[in-house]
Amino acid sequence: MSSERKDHKNRPGAASNRLWGGRFAATPSEIMQAINASIFFDSRFYAQDIRASIAHVKMLGDRNIVTKGETRKIVGGLNKIRQEIEKGDFSFDPALEDIHMHVEARLTELIGPSAGKLHTARSRNDQAVTDFRLWVRDAIDKIDPALRDFQEALLDQVATHAETILPGFTHLQIAQPVTLGHHLMAYVEMAGRDRSRLRDCRKRLNESPLGAAALAGTPYPIDRGQTAQILGFDRPMRNSMDAVSDRDFALDYLSALAIAATHLSRLAEELILWASAPFGFITLSDRLSTGSSIMPQKRNPDAAELTRAKTGRINGALIALLTVMKGLPLAYSKDMQEDKEPVFDATDSIELCLAAMTAMIADLNVNKEAMLDAARAGYSTATDLADWLVIELGLPFREAHHVTGRIVKRAEERNCRLDELPLSEMQAVDGSIHKGVYSVLSVENSVKSRRSLGGTAPVKVRAAARTARKEFL
Ligand code: ARG
Repeated sequence: MSSERKDHKNRPGAASNRLWGGRFAATPSEIMQAINASIFFDSRFYAQDIRASIAHVKMLGDRNIVTKGETRKIVGGLNKIRQEIEKGDFSFDPALEDIHMHVEARLTELIGPSAGKLHTARSRNDQAVTDFRLWVRDAIDKIDPALRDFQEALLDQVATHAETILPGFTHLQIAQPVTLGHHLMAYVEMAGRDRSRLRDCRKRLNESPLGAAALAGTPYPIDRGQTAQILGFDRPMRNSMDAVSDRDFALDYLSALAIAATHLSRLAEELILWASAPFGFITLSDRLSTGSSIMPQKRNPDAAELTRAKTGRINGALIALLTVMKGLPLAYSKDMQEDKEPVFDATDSIELCLAAMTAMIADLNVNKEAMLDAARAGYSTATDLADWLVIELGLPFREAHHVTGRIVKRAEERNCRLDELPLSEMQAVDGSIHKGVYSVLSVENSVKSRRSLGGTAPVKVRAAARTARKEFL
């Protein structure tokens, strides 16, 4: 019996599970182990797990729930385990289910039975979600600077291209000329909101579930405020059942990532269009495009295409977790173990997409001539003409719209641009039009005139970029 016990201790999982197997006679079947194990992915938060365990045992020591000597031994063992994992000196075994049980099992090997005191006044339910909150918080703290770098790359291009003119589209039809700086500033704004969403999410997630124990709290005289404080949380969560079963923080985070990825996918799509031959607005750098194995002339925007596509994975992660959580009764259910992979995958994907888009923007090779030619096509200053008829000749806008339509038709017939149409042609439509009209018909003057707040005029774009630099960088 005693040798069997010893064997049992040294080979966790061999008979029944050592950490929860007290009332189990038989070992779990292979399929049970396979579906149950989360170690393949939750080993990713070993550092957060060890950090939270150290905070917990320090509190237990201060509250005399474990002795000072035990606390020291446990903290020493936990630090050693962290080093072992970091050096790759740690073996992972699916029989031990998850990172929490791995750490505890190894701690037992290192310091003996006093390792078992670490789990006093806590459960894996509050432990797992504490680790996960810490992990998501760390992820936000990495994504925010990546979004900032993205904004900086955009703002550098805005400075270069405050006056570069390209067509602005609605319905992907040429609408009105805009500046490239103005167009890129739109993405600076989007990224600013993405960062603000992540900040909001961080604020809400920064409460500690630790000490909620399995679901109902614990009879030990613990100090949840202390562990919250050690772990950098603003306060303990107020309700123990909510603490162990809430995954709003992960949903908040994934929805912020889904929106950010959606922004990146729109930029990616524009770069793909702009790099295509019919547009020819930009040339992709060699570093950020690939060739074709069969068509030697090709330069493919794969990084942008993959960014566009990975948005699907990130949006999918949000839907996956919403669907896991939907209809789950309180409090913890094993379903919630499925919270982690979508979050990890979405995090990896957004980091890659941000790096790719930042590099593509930094390397942007702009073909100003092609942009300008396109901006001049499609009667893009027709609105300027209508506005001139209103402002200069006092026509009601509806009538001005109609007159402009007839002038555009004449230009179409002569196959020329509006600023190339002879005055006599315009006067044939409305006799009071005079040569002053030409001042608004060039794309240059068109963008210059749009000086309203948030408009595309180069002076406005430069001012907006200055404000954005102060606010975001
Ligand atoms: N690996 C588990 C998870 O991530 C830990 C919690 C297990 N709790 C339990 N009562 N079986 O959700």
